[in-house]
Amino acid sequence: MSIYRPTPTDSFPTDTSVLQGETEETLSKHIPSPEYPAQPLNRNAHLQWLVRNMVQGFPTRYTSQDASQPWLMFWTLQSLSTLQAGLDSGNKQKAIDTIMSWQYPEGGFGGGPGQAPHLLATYASVCALANVGRPGPGGGWDEIDREKMYKFFLSVKQADGSFTVMRHGEVDVRGIYCLLVVATLLDLLTPELVAGTPAFLASCQTYEGGFSSSSQPYFSSGTLLSSPRPPLGEAHGGYTFCALASWVLIKSFQPPPYGVDIDVKRLLRWLVMMQGSEIELGGFKGRTNKLVDGCYSWWVGGAFALLEMLGMPAARTEAPTAHSDTDDEWDDVDGQSYPLRPSVVQYSTVPDTLFNRKALQEYVLYAGQHPTGGLRDKPPKTSDAYHTLGCLSGLASAQHHVTPSTRRREEITLLWESNTECAFTEQRKSAFIDALAWVEEEGASKYVGSSADRLNAMHPVFNLTMTHTDTMMGHFYQQTVPPRLMRRNV
Ligand code: FPP
Ligand code: ZN
Repeated sequence: MSIYRPTPTDSFPTDTSVLQGETEETLSKHIPSPEYPAQPLNRNAHLQWLVRNMVQGFPTRYTSQDASQPWLMFWTLQSLSTLQAGLDSGNKQKAIDTIMSWQYPEGGFGGGPGQAPHLLATYASVCALANVGRPGPGGGWDEIDREKMYKFFLSVKQADGSFTVMRHGEVDVRGIYCLLVVATLLDLLTPELVAGTPAFLASCQTYEGGFSSSSQPYFSSGTLLSSPRPPLGEAHGGYTFCALASWVLIKSFQPPPYGVDIDVKRLLRWLVMMQGSEIELGGFKGRTNKLVDGCYSWWVGGAFALLEMLGMPAARTEAPTAHSDTDDEWDDVDGQSYPLRPSVVQYSTVPDTLFNRKALQEYVLYAGQHPTGGLRDKPPKTSDAYHTLGCLSGLASAQHHVTPSTRRREEITLLWESNTECAFTEQRKSAFIDALAWVEEEGASKYVGSSADRLNAMHPVFNLTMTHTDTMMGHFYQQTVPPRLMRRNV
């Protein structure tokens, strides 16, 4: 019997309510107790698991993911970077050569050698290259065919501002996010590319406040409608992250006449409602009345930081203390501190940010970690590459407060050099500065266990380390990016 309150049920059980009850039962067994002590981050087990997949190859059950080779590469490399580790130069080169074998002759990257270019595969390949690539011959970065990539992007653009994920494919905000990330990293973002996209993104926000995969507001049976119809589809954490991050990326391209906006307050309410209760260990779910799952630690937990770029303050109720980076305990609002024992781990009623950072860390550490390495959706499932990155990035976003900084913005602006003749210099400059203005707030990092569990802070939009983002964007925009003094990123 758990000490926490189960989700109330009525006398009409459904598949959903039964599954919810079973999940709560399982999760409650992972609440630390004298027999099951609080788990620290099992860094070594995760590193060994990741390296085994990378060097020995993935187990045969991944065969069905043949068209997702760039994702397997990105999830693995990015998880290593999050854990503050990286490959040796020989394995880095092997990774670069493998990634480059997915570049399609007519632009973009496919899911494997010779596979048709796809926006999702292109994001995963370019972000994998952000981890292991470098400028110069053989380094991958300068072998990306940016001109053909841009043509590929335009070839999947639709009249309503959306994009299909590949030629003759479907429209999906995941694809829009992937395209905008790559366009921003590689200096390919233009007004022509994003014309109409803000309006399309805004149209995907549902009555709940989150975003659905694609609203198709102006399309019906292949014809273009004169006025938009209501959003199709259900608000979901994955799509909500993609839509919100896309919105943040094209902020500088959104002066009138677009004149559209999203409902940030309704979005915040929905995001907050996605965090599970104590019996669910504070993990996040992806949609209303569904189960908590480790991957939403990033898609939903990571989305809160993005709101700060839209002017939503972090709602901090306590000033960060100089010692909090190394503090092993979590100060409650009444000043009492709660050590990690089950009878006293109560979630503070007034969180110190827009979501309960402590609770999310507990979900990842206690339920997300598979005992033999890698992280997972939930117990008793096994670990996999996708959930390993989702859990780790989510844990990082709960540990650190990454926020847009006016000071950083000024430093970058000072070093900006106008180096191209283009009609949209100001938007290009803003896109660069906005993307790099994020900083990890000094003294605001907090750990449920100890600072030995520290992960690298992630860039809230790209899910790359700050250092990899700075280095890649500095190269493609040919700009000097001021060094970050605080943190060690691999
Ligand atoms: C529902 O699965 C999940 C989806 C339909 C897709 C969710 C989208 C993402 C996770 C975003 C991915 C982003 C990129 C950039 C590729 P489900 O029914 O198994 O899960 P649920 O019950 O938790 O909704
Ligand atoms: Zn999942």
